[in-house]
Amino acid sequence: MTVLAPDERDRREAWTVRWRDRWRDLRNRLVGDPRFQRFAAAFPPTRPVARRQAAALFDLCAGFVYSQVLFACVRLRLLDHVAAGALTPEALARQMGLSPAAALRLIRAAAALDLVEWRGLHIGLGMRGAALRGNPGALAMIDHHAMLYRDLADPVALLRGEAAPAQLSRFWAYVEAADPAATADAAAYTALMASSQSLVAEDILDAYPVARHRVILDVGGGDGTFLAAVHRRAPDARLMLFDLPAVAALAAARPGRPDSLTIHPGSFRTDDLPEGADLVTLVRVVHDHDDELVRLLLTRIHRALPPGGTLMIAEPMAQSAEVAPMADAYFGFYLMAMGSGEARSPEALEAMLRDAGFTDVRRRPTRRPLFAGLVTARKPG
Ligand SMILES: C[S@@+](CC[C@H](N)C(=O)[O-])C[C@H]1O[C@@H](n2cnc3c(N)ncnc32)[C@H](O)[C@@H]1O
Repeated sequence: MTVLAPDERDRREAWTVRWRDRWRDLRNRLVGDPRFQRFAAAFPPTRPVARRQAAALFDLCAGFVYSQVLFACVRLRLLDHVAAGALTPEALARQMGLSPAAALRLIRAAAALDLVEWRGLHIGLGMRGAALRGNPGALAMIDHHAMLYRDLADPVALLRGEAAPAQLSRFWAYVEAADPAATADAAAYTALMASSQSLVAEDILDAYPVARHRVILDVGGGDGTFLAAVHRRAPDARLMLFDLPAVAALAAARPGRPDSLTIHPGSFRTDDLPEGADLVTLVRVVHDHDDELVRLLLTRIHRALPPGGTLMIAEPMAQSAEVAPMADAYFGFYLMAMGSGEARSPEALEAMLRDAGFTDVRRRPTRRPLFAGLVTARKPG
């Protein structure tokens, strides 16, 4: 194998980049030319690609409308109505409280998106609709998106920091203010998180064997839904939950809470974390916060862990082209409306973990990276 001198390597890399960019510029001139578009849509070898690209572009333009169709289906419980058996449009109109014409419009839109399907003159559940009904967390998020859509009505103002206070950030305000009066918001937000947690928890626990740990501390643990799943996998482990006082109170009151679970109210902005755990978990917490607070949090965890202790970070991560639309587009704008945070790549998390003193940083593959990626790290022993 020939080993190239650094100068030669740099020269070749620069050459490759220059030629790749030239090819991309040429490609863009072609696909942006209406005459080429007409030609490509008719020419048999390019026709499938041209049609796919045109359909993908249309989907991008129509995305907001698709989301609103979905929202109407969830609010009017269209999927629930047809789940028990196919119904006529007239029966559905009555169940949804819509005029027959309006019901038919929604049914047609939902059928086009595979949420429902025509079965002769009746309407049944479509394949996508069936998958959605099996995911209560996604249903709760769709309902909650009403706030997000209002916040994104003027994305440019939001990007410029000129938008009126966002609904989503007010929903989340209990975290900023740590205000006991914000208990109602805390309960609503915590219920929303809990509804999507059980699916995420099983994927995380399939990817990392928690039963090897004796004491497990879940920081930002919400109402304890994740720790309840941990308890099923590691019944002998002692469990600790740390969250803001308004949320910790919900965890303390949760029915069926394991005897081995202790609750620790506090804020990682201002308080040290309880010691004694050999595994600390951060599930869907880090991406909510800006770098400065994440660095402080990692330092506090490092301090609380014994030598050899493990930290696990589980959340949606910007880690592949497949996940990028969710991480960079969806979470990028969702978190902007919320007022802080970003979906980070495993590399970015690794750099922060090393800065905080952790070693042995490992990525652990999960079943559905769209729900959660997983990174673990160790405090040197
Ligand atoms: C997105 S939720 C995730 C909850 C849970 N881990 C889950 O995945 O369902 C973030 C959690 O972090 C908690 N949190 C936010 N800021 C906090 C702080 N400064 N100190 C402690 N907990 C905090 C919130 O109250 C909330 O329960």
